[in-house]
Amino acid sequence: MISKNNSLSIIYFSPTGGTQKVVREIATGMGYRKLRDLNITKDKAIPKLQFSKDDNVLIGTPVYSGRVPLVALQRLKKMKGENTNVILVVVYGNRHYDDALLELKDLVVDLGFSPIAAATFIGEHSFSSPKYPISEGRPNSTDLRLAKDFGKQIMTNFENHKKIKVPGTYPYKERSEKLKVKPKIDMDLCDLCGMCEKVCPVDAISIFKDRVDIDENLCIYCHVCVRICPQKAIVIDDKRIIKSAKNLHEKCKQPQIPEIFL
Ligand SMILES: Cc1cc2nc3c(=O)[nH]c(=O)nc-3n(C[C@H](O)[C@H](O)[C@H](O)COP(=O)(O)O)c2cc1C
Repeated sequence: MISKNNSLSIIYFSPTGGTQKVVREIATGMGYRKLRDLNITKDKAIPKLQFSKDDNVLIGTPVYSGRVPLVALQRLKKMKGENTNVILVVVYGNRHYDDALLELKDLVVDLGFSPIAAATFIGEHSFSSPKYPISEGRPNSTDLRLAKDFGKQIMTNFENHKKIKVPGTYPYKERSEKLKVKPKIDMDLCDLCGMCEKVCPVDAISIFKDRVDIDENLCIYCHVCVRICPQKAIVIDDKRIIKSAKNLHEKCKQPQIPEIFL
């Protein structure tokens, strides 16, 4: 049974911060005094974690190509439950979440967790730009209010939680081919501050005294480097990404609404 006497662990992968905002707001709504915040966006500090049946866990991940991002999947596999209650959240960029929530649910069940609630929320699409905005500003204040309410609802109803069903189909949507994408740095603007290297979730960026190297085999085009750069020195101008951004900008204008599964 989910109970307020125990602590809550929130575990999330969130390169551009949308998922982090949503899961933190759900946790606020749940009202635990003891909160363990495990950000697995960077790999380095992730311990192998064993949870017991008395623990409560909330896991959040973005949707990449209708699935759980592979890096997030690999990092989540370090967790182990023992019939541990878990709440699952996926955050997507206003196109669709396809099979991501089902895949996340299947994964955590394999790892020993017991999903008792789930939700889908909307974040600003990683490919969004001033030229091609896609779900810009999401999660907005309404999304975050709904996230907090969802957290409250989980707790008020905790006696009655049953195993949940979530949307999705088998076989899961095929992952898109991994593109080789290399963000471009304008060295006239770059002052080698190292922010991009620090935030890159897959350590694809290395800063040297006089240059920045980016490994296109590692880059997952999450765009956090573009967003964080104080000098606006980084762009991803790969034609395939720009085409996809234009397409999403034109076709995904209708704002999607969060869904909850209790
Ligand atoms: C490689 C890639 C693939 C994506 N695929 C989808 C998708 O299939 N559907 C969707 O609605 N959003 C998609 N998105 C957008 C993200 O789900 C969205 O931007 C999310 O808010 C990112 O979460 P974060 O801010 O926590 O990093 C994709 C983003 C990236 C980088």
